[in-house]
Amino acid sequence: MRELIEKMPKVELHLHIEGSLEPELMFQLAKRNNIDLPYSSVEEVRAAYDFGNLQDFLDIYYAGCKVLIHEQDFYDLTYAYLKKAAEQNVMHTEMFFDPQTHTERGIELETVAKGICKAAKAAKEDFGISSLTILSFLRHLSEEAAIATLKAALPMKDKFIAVGLDSSEVGNPPQKFQKVYQMAGEEGFLKVAHAGEEGPAQYIWDSLNLLKIDRLDHGNRAMDDEDLLKELKQRKMGLTLCPLSNRKLQVVKDLKDHPVKKMLNKGLKATVNSDDPAYFGGYMNENFIAITEALNLSKRDLFQLTSNAIEVSFVNADRKADMMHKLNKWMKA
Ligand code: HPA
Ligand code: ZN
Repeated sequence: MRELIEKMPKVELHLHIEGSLEPELMFQLAKRNNIDLPYSSVEEVRAAYDFGNLQDFLDIYYAGCKVLIHEQDFYDLTYAYLKKAAEQNVMHTEMFFDPQTHTERGIELETVAKGICKAAKAAKEDFGISSLTILSFLRHLSEEAAIATLKAALPMKDKFIAVGLDSSEVGNPPQKFQKVYQMAGEEGFLKVAHAGEEGPAQYIWDSLNLLKIDRLDHGNRAMDDEDLLKELKQRKMGLTLCPLSNRKLQVVKDLKDHPVKKMLNKGLKATVNSDDPAYFGGYMNENFIAITEALNLSKRDLFQLTSNAIEVSFVNADRKADMMHKLNKWMKA
């Protein structure tokens, strides 16, 4: 199975570029930018990645971001992820970035966006991997701050395909961001949101009905609500599940309890993704291998997960057909 998974052409739809910052690059950038890290070695950093919940992780993740200062830093971060993804046969990826994590530290949005987009272009040329970028609002901050971020992004809006919503979920419900999502929609952005990772099924309903999302990030807690599962199926809503992330953040106790297979059986457009691969123990292959072993997934299940990802991705019909062709070739082999 391992070799089959490694060879499968893949699509990643839930990846925080800041969450791909490996400890080695964190140290390299800290040195380059004269920043003190609260760790003395790569091993010490990895040992700190023992999280009880989402907030434990976010505290460490935002601290790690402080080494990212210059356009070149964002370029190096993004290029390293795309190279790794291409090595794992990822054909296409849709990357979140959190502008406010950087603008709050005085880094210009343009610096961040330029570094990411230049790396995306270079990686397309060097490795053939295509990518899109999703501008994600931090939900622990105010809606006014999200609106200011959206406005700052408008002069370069062709660089971003969608807006997203991440960070601390419980206590920061979708309705807090209804206005900024409406504005983003009017500006032509697609819309996604993290919901139902730690928050209740109601946050998923509200993401559908109030934020009018085009795709749902995580969505695990939909399993608590039969009517919601029917609604997601009826809407053909993509769900970007993240198995190793869910285990690391204790969203599931054991991967054997992960809902992805049940979701497939119910006809939902479930997909498998890495979320923050440098923090959660693996990229796409490691996620697929772990979940396949835990749930005894078949080659047919793997095909379904990836054809779902192609279908609910934000690329055009030609690129979808091209990727489906590659996946079909793998299926027949
Ligand atoms: N959930 C919420 N916010 C995040 C995550 C996540 O898994 N990763 C990075 N920001
Ligand atoms: Zn996420």
